[in-house]
Amino acid sequence: MLVGVLNGVNLNLLERRDPAVYGGLSLTQLEERIRGWGQELGCEVVCRQTNDEGEYVDWCQELGESADGLVVNPGAWSHYSYAIHDALELARGPVVEVHLSDIARREEWRRHSVLADLAAHRVIGKGPEGYREALEFLARG
Ligand code: DQA
Repeated sequence: MLVGVLNGVNLNLLERRDPAVYGGLSLTQLEERIRGWGQELGCEVVCRQTNDEGEYVDWCQELGESADGLVVNPGAWSHYSYAIHDALELARGPVVEVHLSDIARREEWRRHSVLADLAAHRVIGKGPEGYREALEFLARG
C-alpha cells in the first residue's frame, strides 16, 4: 500500500522548536524513522513537507487520489485551514491526523482542530511514535 505523510508549516525547523514539546528530532530524522516503520509494515511511504498552504492543498489532492491512506500533520494550519479540510475530504483512503505535542494541554487556540471530523484516527501527544501508530492504523486496514 502507498501512504502519503504530509507535514506542514514550521515542521521543517523541528529540531529548533522547544525539545520539551517536540522532542528535538529534525524533520530529516523523523522522516527516516517514518520510512523505516513503513518498511517494517510493508508500506511504501512518500514523505513531504512545505510551508506553503497552497502546495499542501495540492499534495492533499494529488496523494489523496493516488495513495491508499494519508498521515497528516499540518502544524498550525490544523487549527484554522478549511482549505486543507476540504482537500482532505476528497481523499480516496482514510486520513490519520497526527500531532507530536499534546494540543489538548497547550494554548486554548491549539485545542481545536478543523480536521478532527474527517480523520479516521487521531494520534496526539505521542511524539514521533505517533507516526508509527498512524502507519499501523492504516496498514491494519
Ligand atoms: C503540531 C501542533 C500545532 O499546534 C503546531 O502549530 C505545530 C505542530 C504538533 O505536531 O504538535 O506546528 O501540529
